[in-house]
Amino acid sequence: MKRKQQIIQHAINSQIIDSSLSAIGIMDFDRLAQTVSDLQSAFPTNFYHTFAVKANALVKVLEALKQYGMGAEVASSGELKIALAAGYSVENIIYDSPAKTIDDLRTCIANDISLNIDNLQELARIDELMVQYPNTKSVIGFRINPQIGSGDISSTSTATATSKFGYALADGDNRQQLIALYQARPWLTSLHTHSGSQGCSLSLMATGVAALCELAEEINQSIGHQQIQRLDIGGGLPVNFASDEVTPSFSEYAAVLRQQVPLLFTDKYQVKTEFGRAIAAKNGFIVTKVEYTKNSGGRHIATTHAGAQILTRTAFLPKSWPIRVTGFLPDGRERTSDNSEVVTTDVAGPCCFAGDLVCVNQPLPKLEPNDYVLVHDTGGYYFSNHFDYNSLPRVAVYAASGAEQNISISCIRQADSLEDVLSKM
Ligand SMILES: Cc1ncc(COP(=O)(O)O)c(C=O)c1O
Repeated sequence: MKRKQQIIQHAINSQIIDSSLSAIGIMDFDRLAQTVSDLQSAFPTNFYHTFAVKANALVKVLEALKQYGMGAEVASSGELKIALAAGYSVENIIYDSPAKTIDDLRTCIANDISLNIDNLQELARIDELMVQYPNTKSVIGFRINPQIGSGDISSTSTATATSKFGYALADGDNRQQLIALYQARPWLTSLHTHSGSQGCSLSLMATGVAALCELAEEINQSIGHQQIQRLDIGGGLPVNFASDEVTPSFSEYAAVLRQQVPLLFTDKYQVKTEFGRAIAAKNGFIVTKVEYTKNSGGRHIATTHAGAQILTRTAFLPKSWPIRVTGFLPDGRERTSDNSEVVTTDVAGPCCFAGDLVCVNQPLPKLEPNDYVLVHDTGGYYFSNHFDYNSLPRVAVYAASGAEQNISISCIRQADSLEDVLSKM
């Protein structure tokens, strides 16, 4: 907490935070560098770490992560544009998405960007592109769903029997079919899984990685040489949102993997990771201002400017994504039980629906108008995806107007094309 207190104090002294503040996000770049260094030292050198851009799509953050030695995992053409704008070279990018268009696939293959195939229909498109671009340097493989079951949060559990992601390994004769697909295509040289995110245990994630490794060995043996060179084990390390403690750590996950999948640590395969939340979440926070307070039904309510528009998961799924808050006096001192009465509080956001709450029924030192509220651990999947317009994927926007039989649709904002970004490299 001490460091966040210092950052807030500094931001107040330098008038970044003042009485006109609504809500801002702050990323701690020193801590970010430390987190990446913890990651790199937890694993041996046959591991290459990419950052899941969806977790924090800000160009400045991506530039820093690149400088610290990370690559980029992107899951949409918008994220790919952002990674390219941040200076990542194509060989350090991996493209994952369950809905790649033909243009996405062509752009990747024509520009040597690696990708993980989600399904057989996508494979059919790639088969055609491989005829057109036989010399591509893209590293290509399947994303498999090891179907090992769900963690505590269904919306972030990617390896359930019916998950929308990847090739369902345990269904019917899918395993044998996949082996045959690799046998027939020497250019399939990697294999991918992302077997869980927040809410999954380390051992469950490692079970998915073990299934991946076992399959790669079986495919290679059936082919008679090591066609699969790269194993992509995804991200998914959960984050502790209950305190400032970083747990589980990268080295704890490495220890579990070392025990359950020792082959990963032998240099036989290049291993890629794609951590997002565990890199970004604890290195960022939101500061917002208390605009008003009131008492309703015996509950102290503090209305702020951080709600569903930047704390989307928490506002809509509060049980799965509980989040901590700390109050500060307008001069930057932390509110504690020493300087304030503790009262049962709801911290609310600004949006016009009743569920727009950051926390509910919490005993907190009493917040007053013009106080600041710090929302902890929000460096991933929160403000970073909304704040900086320049770093957002520019989706095209259309306006529809006119009566039923006479509707007209016109483009009011064009999307940047991926080729534009690539041609400027
Ligand atoms: C393919 C893939 N890789 C990496 C990630 C990042 O996961 P996390 O932020 O939990 O590390 C995700 C998250 O959904 C994903 O789907």
